[in-house]
Amino acid sequence: MTQRQLFLGGYVLFPGGHFAGAWRHPYSTRDWLGPQTFHDLARTLEAAKFDLAFIPETVSFRAGFARHGLSNAIKHDPAQIAAQIAAVTTHLGIGVTLSTSFNPPYNLARTLASLDHLSGGRVAWNVIQSNGPANYANFPEVEQLDRDQLYDRGDEVVEAVTVLWDSWGQDALVADQQTGLFADPARITVPDYKGTYVATRGPLNLPPTPQGRPVIIQAGDSPRGRAFGARWGEVIFAIERTQADLQAKKDDLRAKATAVGRDPEKIKLFAAVQPIVGETTEIARARRDHLRTLVTPEAGVEFFSQFSRLDLGDVSLDEPYVKVLEERATQGQAEGRAVVALNELLGSRLRTATIAEAAIEFSTSELTPQLVGTGAEIADQLAELFLSGAADGFLVTPTHFPGSFDEFGRAVVPHLQRLGVYKTEYAGTTLRGNLGV
Ligand SMILES: Cc1cc2nc3c(=O)[nH]c(=O)nc-3n(C[C@H](O)[C@H](O)[C@H](O)COP(=O)(O)O)c2cc1C
Repeated sequence: MTQRQLFLGGYVLFPGGHFAGAWRHPYSTRDWLGPQTFHDLARTLEAAKFDLAFIPETVSFRAGFARHGLSNAIKHDPAQIAAQIAAVTTHLGIGVTLSTSFNPPYNLARTLASLDHLSGGRVAWNVIQSNGPANYANFPEVEQLDRDQLYDRGDEVVEAVTVLWDSWGQDALVADQQTGLFADPARITVPDYKGTYVATRGPLNLPPTPQGRPVIIQAGDSPRGRAFGARWGEVIFAIERTQADLQAKKDDLRAKATAVGRDPEKIKLFAAVQPIVGETTEIARARRDHLRTLVTPEAGVEFFSQFSRLDLGDVSLDEPYVKVLEERATQGQAEGRAVVALNELLGSRLRTATIAEAAIEFSTSELTPQLVGTGAEIADQLAELFLSGAADGFLVTPTHFPGSFDEFGRAVVPHLQRLGVYKTEYAGTTLRGNLGV
């Protein structure tokens, strides 16, 4: 039997990302807006046989993020980036993030169906709920919901989108120039979907797409979020610091999927990793240390404040981190995921770190595991994690954009191939086929 192969995704995240200082890295592009960067990126990912380019989304603005070039400082419409990537590639999958809270099902179904046609069956939808009050500022007509309700609404939106995708029969588009029959209305159904939160009549004005249904990606982590992922997710993104945590998440998702009647083999867990490659181990370590110097204390505190939900507005930067927690974590933030995981990461430095030092530590990876070493060393770590069964694939998060992917493709991928855990050619032309979901 041939060896199971791992999957790779590239996180198209700029100007900052999991590493808050990415745009300040001397190897990063200065062209964040024009098409060339995305064309180059797409070709690089495809040359390295990546399965997926993954495009995130945000619909809110945070002045502090803009000020410091943090992850959401600028954000193109993800579907437009996807179309640019599709136009210059033939095999690379393209994950597009779109919110179920701020887009009507009809628009979602059509945008994704169009992209699936235009890419020849290579599109995935990363389904998000855009939790958080700032998002509503741009959509005053949308009713504010709590997290569980957002997921309930999300269930309805995905149901509605899928019935719209299915509304044309396979043979409904006839295009018979002799008889003059273009599309046969008898082979097109009117879904007339009605839920508590959303309704849409349909049908869509597009025939079935090459994949039938674009692949569904999901990254929720709360109990309700995992239930949503177990119901719909075909690719699940996870940020977990240890192999044991990853394995636990995978087991939980598979059990939940089985409970709702799904085949757990059809769910692929992609673990986010931040590779830091060097010509030697020492160079890689020096590069990791250099990354920290690119996050200013102010940028780090701004970034950490968002994820920890701590109000750090007027904090003095050399205040001890533990003291800041004692005084400001009055609403359960100390038990939140960002703080708990950061405390683990700081280890013995926890007691002595200032808030600026702790925040910079957080902002260098956003708690994504850093893989530091030569290409061969990083490949060994990835192969080990993959062969343990804890992850089916990896989402590579860049430290500089888009050069991190070029480095990874040249320095790490050949070693993964040598280890027999990574393809040298794409198996097929659709994303669904390549992932086996
Ligand atoms: C790798 C990864 C990528 C994500 N991308 C986005 C994104 O582009 N936009 C977004 O609003 N949320 C994104 N999220 C957040 C998730 O959608 C989700 O809200 C978060 O994991 C918290 O889960 P919960 O809502 O169930 O608590 C991402 C999460 C992960 C792990």
